[in-house]
Amino acid sequence: MKKIISVILAMVMMCVFTLIGCAAEEAEINENGTMKIVLQIGNPVMLVNGIEKQIDAEGTVPLIINNRTLLPVRAVIEEMGGTVEWNSDTQEVVLNYNDDEIKLTIDSQTARLNGQNQTLDTPPIIISDRTMLPIRFVAESFKFDVVWEKSTQTITIMKKTEQNTASVPSTAPRLEENKGGALTLYFSATGTTKALAEKIADVSGADLCEIVPQDAYTSADLNYNSDCRANAEQQDDSARPAIKDLAVNINDYDIIILGYPIWWGTLPKVIYTLSEKYDLSGKIIMPFCTSGGSGISESVSDLKAIYPNSTITDGFRGAGAVSEMQINDWLNDNGFEQKNTEKSDMLKIRVGGRTLTATLADNSSATALKELLSKGDITIDMSDYGDFEKVGLIGTSLPLNDEQITTEAGDLILYQGNSFVICYDTNFWNFTRLGKINDIAKSELKSLLGEGDVTVTISIN
Ligand SMILES: Cc1cc2nc3c(=O)[nH]c(=O)nc-3n(C[C@H](O)[C@H](O)[C@H](O)COP(=O)(O)O)c2cc1C
Repeated sequence: MKKIISVILAMVMMCVFTLIGCAAEEAEINENGTMKIVLQIGNPVMLVNGIEKQIDAEGTVPLIINNRTLLPVRAVIEEMGGTVEWNSDTQEVVLNYNDDEIKLTIDSQTARLNGQNQTLDTPPIIISDRTMLPIRFVAESFKFDVVWEKSTQTITIMKKTEQNTASVPSTAPRLEENKGGALTLYFSATGTTKALAEKIADVSGADLCEIVPQDAYTSADLNYNSDCRANAEQQDDSARPAIKDLAVNINDYDIIILGYPIWWGTLPKVIYTLSEKYDLSGKIIMPFCTSGGSGISESVSDLKAIYPNSTITDGFRGAGAVSEMQINDWLNDNGFEQKNTEKSDMLKIRVGGRTLTATLADNSSATALKELLSKGDITIDMSDYGDFEKVGLIGTSLPLNDEQITTEAGDLILYQGNSFVICYDTNFWNFTRLGKINDIAKSELKSLLGEGDVTVTISIN
């Protein structure tokens, strides 16, 4: 009996090794310049260019620890085509890929990328003899893309092709896996920036916090036509007006949407105080401002100087009545993925390079759509129907809640259970309401959808 088991085991092992052998050959970058490794939390098997592979013989699995996804480094780097060297005396790992070299030390947040110090937000750790790394830093340093899919708990590491390298802004912030969220942090002396900050927090779903000066600025302090306090501070390089402790724990956030009024062309000195009181290194800072007319660019340059270890995105100057769409465009253009669980009734519609948001209806059809989208985005090819709507098949059927509706531009409709409709003009019919696009004029929607066929992608937050 023992002999039979041994023979069976030997055959199984042969099959496994044959499979692994094949996978290793497939792990090279494809002729089309792409390479894809997919890992899943808790799963000892990874997909390398579509082929299943055991991460290692010990059954090591990707983990989430302290809200960070940690991957076994050796398996992943070797699949990427790089090398891993381990020095147990110094507890140092040296990773090489093409011409890039990363040196990491266990339990240290300082890494060296091509000889330059970099700050990690999670140090490498050893679990059961396996070095586990926060993969985004490594993969992105080696010019790979990393995509986290929360619903399936998967991490996809992709070699960038020339085409997608160009399309991914290098500063694009992404709210990764379970990382801390986003904070709208602002200073406002007379309330204008405050109002914009509240709107940005509402649209982005980011938390909101005010930077409060220890001594509030009076109107005399702000009278810039005189020898006022604000002017004196702006002219004094060493001025650091005291600020009260923030009402939030800054360490809970990875993205700081930072707002301020423009004073003498740039940042008020309160922002310098903030930079010295709170460490924002490693975080993504998205600057926005209000002003009497000056642009934001000088303040963005100054932010880059005072936050050399943070990623500063393009700035946004709010002028006049700022629409939700303007804010969304800025956030989306800078790669901000909205993370607002309370806004789970928000639908995103990507069309013609723009992302529109829509509020879902309160019925079982919208709930079913939401459930469907929680499994992944849906791309729909749409055509004109009448002179008032675009219609396309969803690819499945959703429950109906038909009622007589007079539609208007922006209405989202379910037709016959299987078709998604975007209305850009008025119609009267027995329809199921799915939701409504927020804050868009009829003419704008019409021109965005264009004449004839159009492809849209719908997704939930
Ligand atoms: C001391 C001081 C300097 C200012 N300098 C400028 C400036 O250089 N350019 C500009 O466009 N506006 C300037 N402003 C106007 C403010 O930027 C603008 O009113 C802003 O919206 C105020 O925001 P807040 O209400 O949040 O404080 C200045 C205001 C003050 C008080």
